[in-house]
Amino acid sequence: MAEGRGRLEGKVAIVTGAGSSGSGVGNGKATAILFAREGAKVLLADNVEARARETLGLIREEGGRASVFEGDVTSSDDCRAMVEAAVERYGRLDVLDNNVGISHRARVVEVREEEWDRVMEVNVKSIMLTSRHAIPAMIESGGGSIINISSIAGLRANGTTPYSTSKAAVIGLTFSMAGDHGRDNIRVNCIAPGLVYTPMVAPRMDDELRRTRRESAPLGTEGTAWDVAWAAVYLASDESRWVTGVVIPVDAGLSVTTPVTSTPLAQHQVYG
Ligand SMILES: NC(=O)c1ccc[n+]([C@@H]2O[C@H](COP(=O)([O-])OP(=O)(O)OC[C@H]3O[C@@H](n4cnc5c(N)ncnc54)[C@H](O)[C@@H]3O)[C@@H](O)[C@H]2O)c1
Repeated sequence: MAEGRGRLEGKVAIVTGAGSSGSGVGNGKATAILFAREGAKVLLADNVEARARETLGLIREEGGRASVFEGDVTSSDDCRAMVEAAVERYGRLDVLDNNVGISHRARVVEVREEEWDRVMEVNVKSIMLTSRHAIPAMIESGGGSIINISSIAGLRANGTTPYSTSKAAVIGLTFSMAGDHGRDNIRVNCIAPGLVYTPMVAPRMDDELRRTRRESAPLGTEGTAWDVAWAAVYLASDESRWVTGVVIPVDAGLSVTTPVTSTPLAQHQVYG
C-alpha cells in the first residue's frame, strides 16, 4: 500500500463523485485515494459506475479498502441507500465528502431556467439530501465530519453565475449545518478550490489559458486535485477536531488578491 500515516485509521468515509469525468485525476478521485491511503474504508459513490470502478482499481492496487456505490445524489432514495450501504459494509459512518458538482457558465440574462434549476439541484440540494441521511448514521457513530466542496467561484464574480450562486449556497449551507449539528459532534466544513487543473476543466483549457490561470495567483504554480484532497484529509481527520463552519480556500492565494496583485500590472500601483 502507498505510504500513508494512518490519519484516518478506523474511519468510514463516503466520497460522492468519486470517479472523474475525464481521464486523469479529479477532486473526488484524489480525495478517495488519499482517504484510503490514510487508512479509511471508503464508499465510492458515483452515478457512473465505471468511473467509480476506475478509482476502486487504483485504491485496490495500493492495498486500500473501498467499494463502489452507484447512485444519483439528487435522489433522496439513492442517498438513503448510499448511507445504508456504507453502514452495512463497514459498520459505521464518520466522514461524508460532498464532492459532486457540475459547472455552468451563463449570465442571468441568458441562462435557461431548467439549466439554473439543474445546477442548484446537483450542487446544492444534493448536499441537503446526502447529509440528511448521513447525519443520523454519524450520530450513531458518535459524531463525524462533513466536507462540502464549494469553489472560489462562490466567493468572487467568475462569469459562471448559476455555478457561482450554487457554490455560494454551499457555503451558507455549511455554516447552517455546522451551527445545527455541533452538539451532535458533527463538524461541517467547506473547501473552496481555486483554478485547479482537473478533468472537469481540462477540455476547456489550452496551454495559454493554463498559464494565465497559473500566473493569476500569488504562488504562480498550477494546482491539482491532490491539493484539494489533502485539505479534505485534514478536515476528515481528528487533527481538525476543533474546526467547524470554516471555508478553506485551496487556491494558491488567488482569493486574497485584487485583480492586479500578482500580474505585471501590479508595479504600476493601480490601487494607490
Ligand atoms: N476542477 C476545478 O477547477 C474545480 C474548481 C473549484 C471547485 N471544483 C469542484 O470540485 C468538485 C468536482 O470535482 P471533480 O474533479 O471530482 O469533478 P469530476 O467532474 O471529474 O467528477 C465528478 C464525478 O461526479 C459524478 N457525478 C456527477 N453528477 C452526479 C450525481 N448527480 N450523482 C452522483 N455522481 C455524480 C460524475 O460521474 C463524476 O465521476 C465539484 O463540486 C466542482 O464544482 C472544481
